[in-house]
Amino acid sequence: MQPSELIIDRPDEGVFRVHRSSMTSHDLFEQERAKIFDHCWLYVGHESEVQKPGEYRRRTVADRPLIFIRGSDGQIRVLYNSCTHRGASVCQQDEGQATGFTCIYHAWRFNNKGELAGVSDQEGYGDNFNKAALNLKSPPRVEHYRGMYFVNYDSGAESLESYISPVRELIDLTMDSAEVLGGWRILSGTAKYSIKANWKILIENSYDGYHLPSVHQTYIDYLMWRQKKASVQNPNPTGSDARDSSSLKRTRAYATKNGHGGFLYRAEGRAIANPSPLWPEETRREVLRVKSELIAKFGEQRARQMSEVSRTICIFPNFLFQDSQTGFRFRQIWPVAPDMIDVVQWDLVPRNEQQDLFDARMEYSLAFLGPGGLATPDDAEALEQCQRGFAAREVEWSDISRGMKRPAQMNDELQMRSFWRQWHAWLKGDPKNAFTDDIDRGAGNSLLINLEA
Ligand SMILES: [Fe+2]
Repeated sequence: MQPSELIIDRPDEGVFRVHRSSMTSHDLFEQERAKIFDHCWLYVGHESEVQKPGEYRRRTVADRPLIFIRGSDGQIRVLYNSCTHRGASVCQQDEGQATGFTCIYHAWRFNNKGELAGVSDQEGYGDNFNKAALNLKSPPRVEHYRGMYFVNYDSGAESLESYISPVRELIDLTMDSAEVLGGWRILSGTAKYSIKANWKILIENSYDGYHLPSVHQTYIDYLMWRQKKASVQNPNPTGSDARDSSSLKRTRAYATKNGHGGFLYRAEGRAIANPSPLWPEETRREVLRVKSELIAKFGEQRARQMSEVSRTICIFPNFLFQDSQTGFRFRQIWPVAPDMIDVVQWDLVPRNEQQDLFDARMEYSLAFLGPGGLATPDDAEALEQCQRGFAAREVEWSDISRGMKRPAQMNDELQMRSFWRQWHAWLKGDPKNAFTDDIDRGAGNSLLINLEA
């Protein structure tokens, strides 16, 4: 099957189908690596992970072994973890602080700026030996936005800022929201897990609003039990404002240029800064104090968007930015094989967050989205069942048409169509001409949610 035939997209008829070979084909898997992952901006790390000189994190980004490191000169760099002599890894630990690295093979030594500092038996190389040309190499493009560092293996790619510009407004809301609490920091520790499924169905799952009652009933029951135990009036297990068809109309899905997309909804229980009825009076007061500081700093409208709205953003192709009542986290989804994914996930917290709010955030995060939580294993099961179902090759197409004929709500699939259209455009070699919009019908161009509705 040719790439051009993999998607049936007929907006006027409300038809959107994806051919299931896109989830199983080894040939397409290789094409994705070459045509998508070698050309798109890929997240590497957050500046708060490498605060001290020499602090580093070892990362694998589109199969390349990388070191994300702050040099003794204070500069953050991304270096290939590959000795310029014969290729062996120079960094052996996932994280640490070092003045430099020594290759395990022939003991070439590099400082924490990546410079070749020592070669065993240098006399053996003669006078023209150019040490500077043998410093550790960096990916062709390394750029950052609001503390998030990305790489691009295509030297001709558009700038990171331009690439993410369609969703910058939303990223800024989250990033600014911790300004009154000292800014965000990544919590040390990484959640890592694997799922026997194609990477694109975890992308879909990560911003699929409507599998919650069918897949996550166990978690909803648990939250309901907790709220009843705390004698909460009108229990609302998920804290989401989107409980029925009329309130769902106040939510929205969005899709933008470059294949980014996600959904937005009002929610309570946001640690910044919309308190849950479960929290004690004192905690609620602290949350409202933070909110009043946000209003003073950013004005009422913007502060309300920051604090009352949960937002999920997928930065194409594989980086999820989740700011919800269950916390704020980054999730990255790596294709390992057509039917295997590695997931890495980090939680972010405001530096000066009050302890009980921090605890509430962590409890949510571990109980819901951690690999041993009450949600992630259920998602993994659903995804693995899909992947097994794809073996029924005669059932060729998946349907992703929900919400094509109405202004897209969070429980619709606009964001997924945006992803698939961009995926398709890259495979066809024409990434600037992805059709993204059944966007914004009736909602204007802003990505904000209407809080007065
Ligand atoms: Fe889920």
